[in-house]
Amino acid sequence: MLELKNKVAIITGARRGMGKADALLLAKAGAKVVVSDISEEECQQVVDEIKNSGGEAMAIKCDVSEKEEVDKMIKKTIEEFGRIDILVNNAGICQFKPFLDLTEEEWDRTININLKGYFLCGQAVAKEMAKQKSGVIINIASIAMGQVGVGFPAITHYCASKGGIVAMTEAMALELAPYNIRVNAIAPGAIDTPMAASVKDDPKVLEGTLNRVPLRRMGKPEEIASAVLFLASDASSYMTGSVVVVDGGWLAG
Ligand SMILES: NC(=O)c1ccc[n+]([C@@H]2O[C@H](COP(=O)([O-])OP(=O)(O)OC[C@H]3O[C@@H](n4cnc5c(N)ncnc54)[C@H](O)[C@@H]3O)[C@@H](O)[C@H]2O)c1
Repeated sequence: MLELKNKVAIITGARRGMGKADALLLAKAGAKVVVSDISEEECQQVVDEIKNSGGEAMAIKCDVSEKEEVDKMIKKTIEEFGRIDILVNNAGICQFKPFLDLTEEEWDRTININLKGYFLCGQAVAKEMAKQKSGVIINIASIAMGQVGVGFPAITHYCASKGGIVAMTEAMALELAPYNIRVNAIAPGAIDTPMAASVKDDPKVLEGTLNRVPLRRMGKPEEIASAVLFLASDASSYMTGSVVVVDGGWLAG
């Protein structure tokens, strides 16, 4: 049920971190993978890794906040692979800044990449999926999504974007269900990627973080990728509009 043979998957923000882990695992499950990010060269390295393991993949440079680049990515994917079955909206940034110092430009940049980017990619891909009457969209949110009784200081704009992603996921799930397109979100906790380097590299911050995690460790990108594979596959065929929390127990604490 976890097999993705003949499926085509686009993963944004896939040159490193969770997106790269998703790309490697979905390719291993048999999907043809589009490895997309702001640096084509680094995407190509992930593609080479997939190809060396016998998989099929293609690198496409795409800034998800630019509609023109998103449209080009969809066009190229259709030209090369003929269809799109899976989108993992994963590209994101997380900038620490106290609320009182946050500038309008910083707010806009985060919202444009983390939230508008998911809309642009989600809509463009859903138009293709609607034609074929099938598809899966996975939106990577965060436990900083709000509504769960756990707040995160100094990343207001990031929290707003992640809360927006969850609300968007539910609305998309409702509108796209008639086209047999499932839309779900994943809310990771603290995962060991370059984005979380400031947590990992500061012993005090790391200790404070791990004190909130019952499993007492950061998650690995591969532990998010396995949730992505589950949601991308038929193993989750009755799931849409859900948020899957993968956080080592943080929100349960
Ligand atoms: N690491 C964590 O603890 C954590 C926790 C919860 C949620 N997340 C979310 O997981 C996702 C993946 O993050 P990660 O931890 O792997 O971080 P990461 O920084 O390693 O990866 C994010 C990727 O997004 C890319 N990106 C940034 N701006 C882009 C743009 N405009 N267009 C296309 N790509 C762009 C980056 O180049 C990078 O490769 C993000 O959405 C992040 O918010 C991370």
